[in-house]
Amino acid sequence: MDHKVTLHDKTFKLFIPNEKIEKAIDAVAERLNADYADATDEDPLVLLCTLNGAIIFAAELLKRLSFPIVLKACKLSSYQGTQSTGSIKTEVPLPAHLEGRRVIIVEDIVDTGNTIEALTGLLKAAKVRDCKVCTLLVKPEVYKKDVKLDYVAMEIPNRFIVGFGLDYDELGRNIKDIYVLDE
Ligand code: IMP
Ligand code: MG
Repeated sequence: MDHKVTLHDKTFKLFIPNEKIEKAIDAVAERLNADYADATDEDPLVLLCTLNGAIIFAAELLKRLSFPIVLKACKLSSYQGTQSTGSIKTEVPLPAHLEGRRVIIVEDIVDTGNTIEALTGLLKAAKVRDCKVCTLLVKPEVYKKDVKLDYVAMEIPNRFIVGFGLDYDELGRNIKDIYVLDE
């Protein structure tokens, strides 16, 4: 197995192997299955996948969820290279008809929280009935916002990572393990 990868001008080393990621997703899915057992075909949970980073996490979650659920997506962006820019752009707007629905935001990673704060604000304005956050990763040393992170699969230190959907300037999403910037 190759333990280092180079993307653009940077080298990354193996950080979280796929098996460990999948186990963490199993645990989150188990909690969701318990918490949303009351969802029905008439009132399914809306899983809102944040493009592009959360695609793989959302797919792995979906495979494990056993209650009525519909898949939607939107895209906000704040990152350039390895830095959060603080200004949020809406690249794919929220889906229509969210009023009165229960929504779970599926994120790849919460860093400064600028993105999740903006997105929960948009969902509130769309008059959803309930909005929860499910993220594969969080960097607790950096996250200082008030938005509650209801379902967190894994916590990591303040390092820049790629793989399992996460990118460095669009490369690295297809790596099945998570790699960290080798500094
Ligand atoms: P925030 O708005 O600062 O919380 O940043 C959230 C978004 O930035 C995530 O959804 C990712 O797309 C991206 N991001 C944050 N940290 C990383 C990282 O370590 N690697 C790759 N992308 C990241
Ligand atoms: Mg993202």
